[in-house]
Parts: sequence; structure tokens; C-alpha cells
Amino acid sequence: MIRKKVLAISGSLRKPSFTEKMLDLCLEGMGNEIEVQKFYPHKMKIGPCLGCWKCWQTKTAGECIQKDDFQIILGAYKQADYLLFAAPLYIFTFPATVKNILDRFFIILKPDQAASPRGGTEHPKRFGCHPKAVLISSCGFPEVENFDYLSPYFRKVCGDFGWSWSGEILISAAGIANVPNLFNDKYEFIKRAGAELMSGQVSKDTTDQIAEPVMSAGDYRKMATASFQGGLRGRTKTISIAMKAIYEMKKRASKREVESHES
Ligand SMILES: Cc1cc2nc3c(=O)[nH]c(=O)nc-3n(C[C@H](O)[C@H](O)[C@H](O)COP(=O)(O)O)c2cc1C
Repeated sequence: MIRKKVLAISGSLRKPSFTEKMLDLCLEGMGNEIEVQKFYPHKMKIGPCLGCWKCWQTKTAGECIQKDDFQIILGAYKQADYLLFAAPLYIFTFPATVKNILDRFFIILKPDQAASPRGGTEHPKRFGCHPKAVLISSCGFPEVENFDYLSPYFRKVCGDFGWSWSGEILISAAGIANVPNLFNDKYEFIKRAGAELMSGQVSKDTTDQIAEPVMSAGDYRKMATASFQGGLRGRTKTISIAMKAIYEMKKRASKREVESHES
């Protein structure tokens, strides 16, 4: 059996990381026929791109003068069938340590400039790698629209680097992830996303189901605010909003069950 190779970037600097949990669920859904190399950029010695253009000069084409840990990621990249980029949303984009990885992928590009079939200009690519790429991210504000910069940005990067954009797994309101059972449905859908990826790409329906809010933005804001206030008052408020959300989740589940019996 030829196992598919997965390069996974786990970009949260926090432990435990909710975004890494999302990544692991997706990998689980991808099944047993994969070989995974997971990297934590912030734990590696990876310098910023120096903009020295050495990787574009004829004599040193495709080589970086920085012999640091990025070489390990590049080695895995050259073999990868899948590229999973998992990172929390930091100020509407990737954390700096993850953006640094994208900058270092500059080495993929050749210096020539050509008209792009998608419009504008692009560089030819080196190494002949076109992995299927997926964005996985979570954020602390309640609206999924908070990914409105990261999501098209990642698509654009995929286009420029010759990666085959294969879907996105995005969860907002991640501050409630530790309320028991509230995200259980989402976790199943993330596994489904992994399975879908193995046979093509993550469907829009699955992306939408994962992103579906489980409580109102108003309640979430109150709960998130109270959780940082702490103390007895903060805790009581947090728990009461969490219980309301659990109650509503159960109501939705039994409504779904009734509907499925009727159809
Ligand atoms: C430096 C920093 C910047 C952040 N910026 C945003 C942001 O722009 N929008 C947002 O909704 N959440 C933001 N967050 C919240 C994180 O995206 C959120 O807590 C995420 O779920 C953390 O994931 P993790 O557990 O994998 O680290 C930020 C958090 C930090 C620490």
C-alpha cells in the first residue's frame, strides 16, 4: 500500500491548542493510509527570509543560504501529497512564526515573471510539488467573518505557490470549545472533512457545518468577557450562559431527530 504523505504545520504557540485539536481530528478523519510529519514552527530554529535573492541566482538556484530548520520542512514538503496549515487567527492573519514559514517558501519560486492564468503575474515553481492544501484555523471572536482576510489570503498563497487549494476548516467563538459537548457535532464534521480530503476536497457543506454558530454572538461576548473577569461573579455568569447553550444544543438535536423520523 502506498501511503500518502502529509506535511502538517501546527502553528499555535499555546498548549493545549484548540487549533491543533482541529488539525488532529482532520488527520484522524484522513484514516490510516497516511504518513504524517507535523511541525511546530515556533519550536524550531527558523530565521526570517533575508531577502538576499541567493535562491534566485543561477549558481545557487533553489538553495537557501540559511541552513536552519526550515530545511527539514522543505524536505518534507518535497514529498508531501497534502499540506495542512493549522494556525489560530492572530490579528486577522497567521501568527508571525507561521507567516515566516510562508516567507521561507519563497524558495519554491523561480525568478521569471509570467502572465498568470488567474490574471496578474506569477513565478514558475521549483521542485514540481503541487500538494493539496487546507487551511485550519480558529478565532476568539464569535463571527466567522473574522476569517474574511485570512481565507482569501490563503487561497491566493496556494495559487502563487502552485498548491492545490482543497478546502478550509474554520471555527469562530473558540473560547467556548471547553464547554462540555458543545462542539461534538463539529468534531465529527472535522473528521468528515479529513475523509473528504482523501477523496478530493473538503466540501462546502462540511465547511459550513463546522463553522455553524452554537450560540448567539451576544451570549458569546458576555460569556467570553465574564470568563476573563474571573471570581465568583464571572464564573457564575460563564456557567449560566454555558448551560443555556447546552440546553439549546439539546433542543436542536431532538428537533433534528424528529425531522429525520418524519422524512
Ligand atoms: C496575539 C493574538 C491575536 C489574536 N487575534 C485575533 C483576531 O484577530 N481575531 C479573533 O477573533 N481572535 C483573535 N485571537 C484569539 C485566537 O485566535 C483564539 O483564541 C484561538 O482560538 C486560539 O487558538 P489556539 O488554542 O490554537 O492557540 C488572538 C489571540 C492572540 C493571542
